[in-house]
Amino acid sequence: MLTIREILQGKHTGEAVGIRGWVHRTRSSGGLVFAVIRDSSGLVQVTVDKRNVPEKAFAGAKQALVESSVEVEGEVVEDERAPGGYEIRAKEFHVVSFAEKFPISKDKSEEFLLDVRHLWVRSQRMTNVLKVRSSVFGATHDYFRSQGFHETQSPSFTPSACEGGSSQFQVDYFGRKVYLTQSWQLYAEATMFGLEKIYTVAPSFRAEKSRTTRHLTEYWHAEAEMAWMGMDEAIEIGENLISNICKTVVEEMPDELMALGRDPDDLRKITPPFLKLKYSEALEKLQEAGVEVEWGKDLRTIEERELMAFFDKPAVVTHYPRQVMAFYKRVDPENPEVTLAFDFLAPEIGDEIIGGSERENDIEKMRENLLQEGEDPSSYDWYFDTRRYGAVPHSGFGMGIDRIVQWICKLNHIRDAIPFPRTLTRTYP
Ligand code: 4AD
Ligand code: MG
Repeated sequence: MLTIREILQGKHTGEAVGIRGWVHRTRSSGGLVFAVIRDSSGLVQVTVDKRNVPEKAFAGAKQALVESSVEVEGEVVEDERAPGGYEIRAKEFHVVSFAEKFPISKDKSEEFLLDVRHLWVRSQRMTNVLKVRSSVFGATHDYFRSQGFHETQSPSFTPSACEGGSSQFQVDYFGRKVYLTQSWQLYAEATMFGLEKIYTVAPSFRAEKSRTTRHLTEYWHAEAEMAWMGMDEAIEIGENLISNICKTVVEEMPDELMALGRDPDDLRKITPPFLKLKYSEALEKLQEAGVEVEWGKDLRTIEERELMAFFDKPAVVTHYPRQVMAFYKRVDPENPEVTLAFDFLAPEIGDEIIGGSERENDIEKMRENLLQEGEDPSSYDWYFDTRRYGAVPHSGFGMGIDRIVQWICKLNHIRDAIPFPRTLTRTYP
């Protein structure tokens, strides 16, 4: 059996070949059936001529509805009228399983496509996105490993918040309250003492109660933690990670990117250094665009989008005000009003694709922050131990992989960046 891609590459013209896949579309006229067959690598037209195949094969080809699974044998012929420029003239057409009438046709609503997501994942569009997504995951692992990072895991059930209590999912754990993890970070900071440079790729959970085009309740989070590194070094790792992902995707999936409307040249330009600006400079830039943000308020989606209209590469905003940042972000020794925290914002969609910081080592400051957020510092006592025994400067960040895929694939909604999205309103299928 060959892949359809191999046939479309023209290496088997004139040969007898076998393929297997699914009927993408089909039409017949008289003694001829034209069936376009799909496998994971592409689409090819198969012509079934009543005179050239056994009777059963012709009857099967004629009856097989869209999404029937088939095995085909025949000769590859170059034919410029066929999609892709090649067709297979069938000698045998075996229907492995006749499909019922497929519920998805053109012009179905977004909601309907989400209801039948288990079938929609086979579509050309989802297949292209999922190939790019696979490439992004691979590139993420490759980058960290090439830089000497060890991959480690944190538990998904946790007793306390990493990113603030309001977006935590509570779970009944044999009668005790625990939460689904928002981030591997707190455990990573402990693990880091043995391994120094670590990363993970894992799901994180956020009880996001607003409908937006960039929030999932379960999303894939690539996170890194590095001993002996400050904010600027962590930013550099983030820049290299993202440019490496762009480079890999362009190498591995150029056709899929084009089919999704993404010009690979856009991604070739995503090279370090990215533009850096302080939070206060971002406010000035926004003011230029007529958008007023009061100092001390976090940037909202609309403001991030306004800001990114200025840039065609990711931008890194640093030195956010202390009051909007998680308890563990290190206060800037040169300005106690701000933290050594940074966000990477994507061009075009303007969304935050990376959030990170240098970590606070002062237990008292962290206690104060937690109290201010309404958390109980005593449930963080194990975490404070990491500062009691050989604390070192350290930094880290988290990258939302689904948001990277959304940006690269030019998707309007993050739910189309993942096969089975979990959002405020959707847990089925
Ligand atoms: O900025 P966040 O909340 O940072 C953390 O969780 C840190 N503990 C990470 C760390 O330093 N190890 O989340 C990191 C990234 C965001 O920049 C965003 O890309 C993504 O995770 N993200 C989401 N992606 C999809 N859906 C959501 N609900 C997301 N929330 C955050
Ligand atoms: Mg953030």
